[in-house]
Amino acid sequence: MAPSAAAPSLLLPLLFLALLHPAASASQHRHRFGAYLDAPSPDASEPPTIFFEVDRPIRPPRGSSSCSTLLLSGTFGATYGQPPVTAPYAPPACLGGGGALALAVLEWTADCRGRQFDRIFGVWLSSAELLRGCTAEPRPNGIHWSVSRDVTRYAVLLAEPGEIAVYLGNIVDNTYTGVYHANLTLHLYFHAAPPPQLQQQERADLIVSISRSLPLTDGQWFAIQNATDVQSKKLSIPSNTYRAVLEVFVSYHSDDEFWYTNPPNDYIEANKLSNIPGNGAFREVVARVDGEVVGAVWPFTVIYTGGVNPLLWRPITGIGSFNLPSYDIDITPFLGKLLDGKEHDFGFGVTNALDLWYIDANLHLWLDHKSDKTTGSLLSYDASGLDLNVNSEFTGLDGQFVTSAARHVSATGWVKSSYGEVTTTFYQRFSYENSNVFTKNGNVQIVNQTIDAKVWHFCQGYFFCVAL
Ligand SMILES: *[C@@H]1O[C@H](CO)[C@@H](O)[C@H](O)[C@H]1NC(C)=O
Ligand SMILES: *[C@@H]1O[C@H](CO)[C@@H](O)[C@H](O)[C@H]1NC(C)=O
Ligand SMILES: *[C@@H]1O[C@H](CO)[C@@H](O)[C@H](O)[C@H]1NC(C)=O
Repeated sequence: MAPSAAAPSLLLPLLFLALLHPAASASQHRHRFGAYLDAPSPDASEPPTIFFEVDRPIRPPRGSSSCSTLLLSGTFGATYGQPPVTAPYAPPACLGGGGALALAVLEWTADCRGRQFDRIFGVWLSSAELLRGCTAEPRPNGIHWSVSRDVTRYAVLLAEPGEIAVYLGNIVDNTYTGVYHANLTLHLYFHAAPPPQLQQQERADLIVSISRSLPLTDGQWFAIQNATDVQSKKLSIPSNTYRAVLEVFVSYHSDDEFWYTNPPNDYIEANKLSNIPGNGAFREVVARVDGEVVGAVWPFTVIYTGGVNPLLWRPITGIGSFNLPSYDIDITPFLGKLLDGKEHDFGFGVTNALDLWYIDANLHLWLDHKSDKTTGSLLSYDASGLDLNVNSEFTGLDGQFVTSAARHVSATGWVKSSYGEVTTTFYQRFSYENSNVFTKNGNVQIVNQTIDAKVWHFCQGYFFCVAL
C-alpha cells in the first residue's frame, strides 16, 4: 500500500507597502511602481555589481560525477518583437555514458552595462518551458548575475535531440542602452552507484508542451490580455498514461504587473484616472480541460527587479524574480476522460485580468511500459466556483478596498495499469485577503495581502504512487 503524501501549506508572505500615488510617477514602458533608478550610481570604472536572489542551494549528490555543456550564447539588444534566439540541442555525450542521471541543472549567467529596464525572459527546450526569469537592471559599471534551476524532472527531454529557444524582449535606444549577454549551460550529475528505482519514477516518460510553436516573434508563452481571454491548445495523450501533472508557468506585466495594488474600476472612473489600471486586486489563473476547471494557480507576488522599491532590486533581488516559480496541478484523477486517444482542450484564463499575462504549461506524463492501454474513471469532483467579495469605500482619491476570495478544487479518480489500480485525489484550497488603503489625497497607498494555499496530493494502491 502506498503512503499518502501531502504538500505542506504554503503561506505567502504579507505585503506591506507604502507607495507613491500612481499619478506621481509614470514612465513610457512601465507601470507606476516600476522605475529606472539613475542615482547614486557607481563610476563606470568600478567593477561590475553582482546581483543575486536568495534561494535554496541545489546540491549534487555526494560522490557524483559531472559534465557541463554550453547550450546557447545570446545577445539581446533590440529584440522586442523579434524571433527567439534558438540553437539545436543535442544530448551531451556524457548522457549516453551509462551513468544514471542524479541531477540536471540549467544555469543562466548574464551581464549588461549601461541603462535598461528589467525584462522578462523564457527558456524553452523543444517547446517546453524550463526557466522563466527577470533580468537585473544594469548600471554604468556593468552588472553580472547567475541563476540555476533544477531541471532533473525534464530528463526525458534532455535525452532527445531538440531545439533551445530563448526570448528576452529588450528595447535599446539613446536612453536605454543596456544590451544583455547571456550564456545558458547545462550541468549534469551522475550517481556513483545505481539509484533506487523510486527516484527514477519521479520523472515523467513524456513531456508535452502546452505553449505556442516556433517560429514566433515573441516568447512561446500564451499572452492573455483580458478577463475573457482564454488561451488553449488541443492535444491527445498516449492511451497508456497512468499519471499526469500539469506544470504551469505564470508571469504578469504592464497593467497587471502590480495586480495586488489595483483599485476597482469604479474608483478609477469616479476620479477620472486615465493612467492607472483597475479591476481590483484579485487575480488567479484557472486551468481547464475541455472547459472544466482542473485546478488553479494563485500566484506568488513576485516583485521584479525594477518594482516598488530599490531595496528589492539589488544586490539581492525579490524572491522568485530571477527564477519564477512554476505550479503543479495533478490531473491524474481526470485521466479516465483523456485516455480515449482523442484530442482534448487544455486552456488557461486569468480572473479579472488586465493586459498582460504570460502563461504556458508542460504536461508531464507517466506511461505504462508493459501495456498499450490503461483505463480510468473519475470518482468524485467538486470545483465550486470562485467566492469573491469586495468592500469599497472611498471619497475622492482616499478610501479603502477590502477584498476576500476563496476557492477549492477536489478530484478523485482511479487509473488501472499493469502496476495495479491506483486511486488519486488532488485537492486545492485557497483563501485570500487583501486591503488597499489610499490616504493623503491618494498620495499614500498601503497594501496588505495574504494568500493561504493548501495543495494536497493523495494516492493509494501502488508502490510507486509518489507525491508531487
Ligand atoms: C559567455 O561565455 C563566453 C565564452 O566562454 C565568455 O567569454 C563570456 O564572458 C560569457 N558571458 C557570460 C555573461 O557569462
Ligand atoms: C480580450 O482579448 C481577446 C484576445 O486578444 C480579444 O479577442 C477580445 O476582443 C478581448 N475582449 C475584450 C472585452 O477586450
Ligand atoms: C495584514 O492582514 C493580516 C491578515 O488579514 C493581518 O493579520 C495583519 O495584522 C495585517 N497587517 C497589517 C500591517 O495591517
